[in-house]
Formats: sequence, C-alpha cells, structure tokens
Amino acid sequence: MEKSVVKRENWGSKIGFIMAAAGSAVGLGNIWRFPYLLGENGGAAFLLIYLVFVVFIGISIMIAEFAVGRKSNRAAVGAFKSQSGGWTFAGVIGVLSAFFIMGFYPVVGGWSMSYIVKSFTGLLGNPEAIGGTFGAFITGSTQPLIWMLAFLVLNVLIVAKGIAGGIEKAAKLLMPVLFGLLVLIAFRSLTLTGAAAGLSYMFKPDFSAVTGQTWLAALGQAFFSLSLGMGCMITYGSYLNKKEDLVSNAVLVTGMDVGVALLAGLAMFPAIFAMGMEPDVGPGLVFVVIPSVFAAMGSIGTLLSIIFFIALTVAALTSSVSLMEVAVAYFIDEKGVERKKAVYGVSSAMGVLCVLSSLSLGAMAGFTIPGLGVGFFDLFDYITDKIFLSIGGLLLAIFVGWFLDKEELRQELTNGGTIQFGLFEAWHALIKYVIPVAIAIVAVAGIASIEQTGLMVFGLLIIVVLAVFSKKL
Ligand code: PHE
Repeated sequence: MEKSVVKRENWGSKIGFIMAAAGSAVGLGNIWRFPYLLGENGGAAFLLIYLVFVVFIGISIMIAEFAVGRKSNRAAVGAFKSQSGGWTFAGVIGVLSAFFIMGFYPVVGGWSMSYIVKSFTGLLGNPEAIGGTFGAFITGSTQPLIWMLAFLVLNVLIVAKGIAGGIEKAAKLLMPVLFGLLVLIAFRSLTLTGAAAGLSYMFKPDFSAVTGQTWLAALGQAFFSLSLGMGCMITYGSYLNKKEDLVSNAVLVTGMDVGVALLAGLAMFPAIFAMGMEPDVGPGLVFVVIPSVFAAMGSIGTLLSIIFFIALTVAALTSSVSLMEVAVAYFIDEKGVERKKAVYGVSSAMGVLCVLSSLSLGAMAGFTIPGLGVGFFDLFDYITDKIFLSIGGLLLAIFVGWFLDKEELRQELTNGGTIQFGLFEAWHALIKYVIPVAIAIVAVAGIASIEQTGLMVFGLLIIVVLAVFSKKL
C-alpha cells in the first residue's frame, strides 16, 4: 500500500516536537475562548464536563491522531486515503475545518497584536474606558482589518519556510514567558479583595443550568483547544520520528493545554468578581479583564500588558500556523502544488473569509446569512466548533477503532514493542466503543438543540456532499 514512503521533513528534536504540538494546542482557545465559554456557560459545571471530555476523549483521540499520522507518514487527507479512498472525505472535512477556523482566528490574533500597541498608547490610563475601547475597536472597518492582515502575513512567512525551524524557535522562547505571566496575573488576581467569589464560580458546580448546548460547547472546546478532530495532530505526527513515545507526548501536551486554560481562568475570574465585572460578556472578556487587572498595578502594569499581548500573539501564531499547515499539506501532498504556491493560495482564501468575519462584527453587524441566521464570524466559529470538529473526532475514532489493524496499532504505539503502553487495551476499547457512542450522544443532543437549524442542516449537508464525492478529492 505504501510503496513510496516519501522523505518527510522531521522535527529538529524531541523537545521541538512537544513545543510545536503544545504550541498548536495552546493558543487563543485557552486564553481567549475558554474563559469566555466558561463565563457564558455558568462556570464550574462547564469546567467539570470539559475536564471529563479532555481526560476520556481528548487524550485518546490525540494518541490516535499521532499514531495515524506517524504510521501513514502522511498528512490528514493522505493518512485516511492510504487506508481506502472511501475515507478521503474524513480528511477533507479536516481541511475544510482549517479554512473555517482560519476564517476567524486571525481576526482575533490581530486584536491581540493591536493590544500590544494599545498597551503603550494609553489603553491602561483610563480604566473605565477599557471596555468601550474594545467595542469601538472591533466594530471598526479599517483597523481590525489591518491587524488581521498583519497577523496573516506572519503566518505566511512562517509556513512558507516549512513547519520546523521558525515555529519551533518562537514557541520554545515565548511559551514559557506566557506561562510565567499567567502565573503572575493569577497571583495578582487571587489576592484582590473579593477574589473568592471568582473561585467558587469556577469550582462550585451548579448543574441546574446545564443543557444539551453546555455539553456540546464543552466537547467542542475540548477538541478546539487540543487541536483535535481536524487532522492537525495527524499532520504533526506525520513529521515525527519513529523513536518518540507517542503516548507520553500526548499526555504531556494535553496536560500543558489544560494547565494553561485553568491558569487563564484563575487569572481572570477572581479579578472579574473582585472588580464587579460580568463573567458572561462573551468574546471580549480577555481584552477587557486583563488590561483592567494591569491598569490597577500602576506603571509596571503597562510593561506587563505589553509582554502579555506579545506572548498571547505568539501563542496564537503557533496555533494558526498549524491550522494553515493542514490546508497547505493537503495541496502539497495530494495535489502536487509547490509549498510557496500552496501557502499563497491557501492564505488568500483565508484572508477573504477573515475580512467577512471581521466586518460581520462592525460594518455588516446587522447582516445574517440568509437561511443560517448568523453572521460570518459566528458561522465559521459555530460550524467548526459545534459540528465539524466533533464529527471529525467521531470519524477518526471509528476509523482507528474499526478499520485499522489492532496489532499494527499496538506496534505503532509501543514502537515495535520496545516501549510500554500498559493501557493499550483500555485505550483501544475507548476509541472503538466508548468515544464514538459518547460523541454521537453529545452531538445529537447538542446539534438538535442548536437554535439555528439552518446552520445545522448546512453543516451536515457539507459533510454528506463530501462523503458522496470523496473519490474525487
Ligand atoms: N488549539 C488551538 C487553540 O486553542 C486552535 C486550533 C484548533 C489549532 C484546531 C489547530 C487545530 O487556540
């Protein structure tokens, strides 16, 4: 089946791979998205469900994605296709997810970049105006577009050079900085008077408000934050050498990802309650809360704010390049396009989507897509988070559990029997039976209760169409 094992690029080092995979996982999902979802979904109950999904679904899927990628030596689509043409669509859904996520991710990445500059041009000087400044900024028609473009150009420069190298270096340097800063902010936030209310919001569950939507949101966030369900970790795994321990890498990456999300929560919720702000303000949360905490610190706050948004921007970059790489690798591996050309083509398409989603918050704010009931930013966010990633994870679990040879998987995960994976049987049972059923239940309950039925039908229709035409992809 695998006549021509292509010579692939490899990660520079073990630590390089972990940093790159953790770099992909840790991003806006942890620091921008996780806290506001927690705030919108009532706090602790959401956190608990999220953690259960991460432990019982996330880690296993990540192990499976690494294994599929390294075993096939191919990126998302090729990995599925190498098994049988009928599975190609599962990979293509991933490529499409990459386009859609990159239809809004660089917009938020651009916000983060602009906050580096805003931090030293007086943002913190007037604490009362911080919320208003954010609203005015993102609804503008030129500024957010320029910053989005700048963010996208950085992606192009990195991905055009190939995935190892640039990404590894930036991640190695700035991920620890981000981590350290979050610890510092969490400490500051926890020592504010009134911080305890934020802690009980985060850790004292109230299940009365949990609905099908909460479960789906938690599942979607688990996939989104761990970069799963769309072929990203398959693609990164395909650049991994045969000596690495896939299982411990997956556990480590997941641990770092959850750690950063929890820290982000600890940095924000105590401060939110101590400062009398609302937890459920949505996507603006990090851009309002963090500067407010810094503003209360005097002049050192300005410096810390600058460093924080630099680090957040880099975290966003190490994630967005992995998203772009999924789409780029598809055109290189499957369509024979040269890397640079693939990067220019893919990023231009993503840029167009980003313009639409950025404007949908401002100039086109009243406009909802006919039949779908949402604007572009929400479309790209909802369709990936609520539909594509979960379905992608479901398909991957079925693929690995039912269509790949169990003994071959055991060989792959134990590096030919040279290392231990004591929980192999348990992992296999999870992937084969438990996870598909669990995702199916959550997806059906959640998708069925999506308010925008048009959106749901649209998402599922895309998947059906791809499945039907899979041989042509
Ligand atoms: N995990 C990234 C984040 O949390 C986003 C991402 C999703 C990256 C899917 C790659 C694939 O920001």
